[in-house]
Amino acid sequence: MFPDLPSYRCSCGRRPTPSVERWRCDCGGLLDLPAAAVTWSPRRGDHSLWRYQDAIAVPGRELSLGEGMTPLVGASPDGEEGVRLKVEYASPTGSFKDRGAVMLVALARLLGATRLVADSSGNAGTAVAAYAARAGLAAEIFVPAGTSDKKLLQIRGHGAQVTVVDGSREDTARAAVERVEATGAFYASHVYNPYFYEGTKTYALEVFEQLGETAPATLVLPAGNGTLVLGAYLGFAGLRAAGLVDRLPRVVVVQAQRCAPLAAAFAAGREDVEPVTPEATVAEGIAIAAPPRGTRILEIVRETGGAVVTVTEEEIARAHAALAAQGLWVEPTGAVSYAAVRRLRAEGSPFMEGAVVAPLCGSGLKASL
Ligand SMILES: Cc1ncc(COP(=O)(O)O)c(C=O)c1O
Ligand SMILES: [Zn+2]
Repeated sequence: MFPDLPSYRCSCGRRPTPSVERWRCDCGGLLDLPAAAVTWSPRRGDHSLWRYQDAIAVPGRELSLGEGMTPLVGASPDGEEGVRLKVEYASPTGSFKDRGAVMLVALARLLGATRLVADSSGNAGTAVAAYAARAGLAAEIFVPAGTSDKKLLQIRGHGAQVTVVDGSREDTARAAVERVEATGAFYASHVYNPYFYEGTKTYALEVFEQLGETAPATLVLPAGNGTLVLGAYLGFAGLRAAGLVDRLPRVVVVQAQRCAPLAAAFAAGREDVEPVTPEATVAEGIAIAAPPRGTRILEIVRETGGAVVTVTEEEIARAHAALAAQGLWVEPTGAVSYAAVRRLRAEGSPFMEGAVVAPLCGSGLKASL
């Protein structure tokens, strides 16, 4: 029906066709899209991520709030000359999740969906709600109890129905899946639907373009479910497949020490991620105890010669203050990658050699310390 829309791939060998109902494989496995070389032909007049339409599998550029093309600024005062910060909180709804949400909502519309369901720690739900509103689709967003009031206000403001689940982030996802199964709504999941990563992939394409068509030495990226890690990898792997870069940036993943299943698995040399019992953290956006794509995230870290590091609550707070002192106002989760940069720099880590890029993922107008 949509000749340009790639089919999903599952490790079991099945290749399901995208449809409103399809969100995982019949075997229960996670779906991916085929790896593709990047077609590098930025549309210079388009100042949204749709300037990379030729490298994106979703033919959806008529749906846009101007997402993407976020600033890349230096981090100067404490001597981090080589460090660039990508101001993702300058996105339309205040977080990088807009990159993926626009893809899922464009896909849902193409497939003929009228209702969307998403679950989120807040920012992805906000982004899906905004793009659903823009596309004229109904949305229901499941969030865990404790999600910042401002995020709830924002989701409701876009006309979405909010269901607050009295339980963990995992309980919230289960409640969303039950609703999807009961109603036949499109599951706009940033965890399960790989079309989301077509959007986060553009993070890498922008970094490449903003650094004069070169790859940085290191990408420092926060991870809960790892949607930015997965997308950024796809972007640089696609650029390498196209012969535009000759190596991948090292991927240094950052987690909050209080909820660090990826860090535990990496430190133990394990391929799979075991769920942890999370403690409360100010980094609500990355408090994921059992990331479903954890194995893939660890593969990316190892393939690129990176690492998984953790930051303490105090380091997050200090990084938040240091950013504010430079004029950058992020939500607590948004300070996590910068906290890691500061620590690695202080330790004289080789990961800080060469160009380093870290994102400021969410706006301080959404939640504060
Ligand atoms: C501000 C912020 N940073 C980072 C993340 C991490 O995203 P992911 O769970 O996809 O790794 C989130 C997720 O909601 C977020 O809101
Ligand atoms: Zn399968």
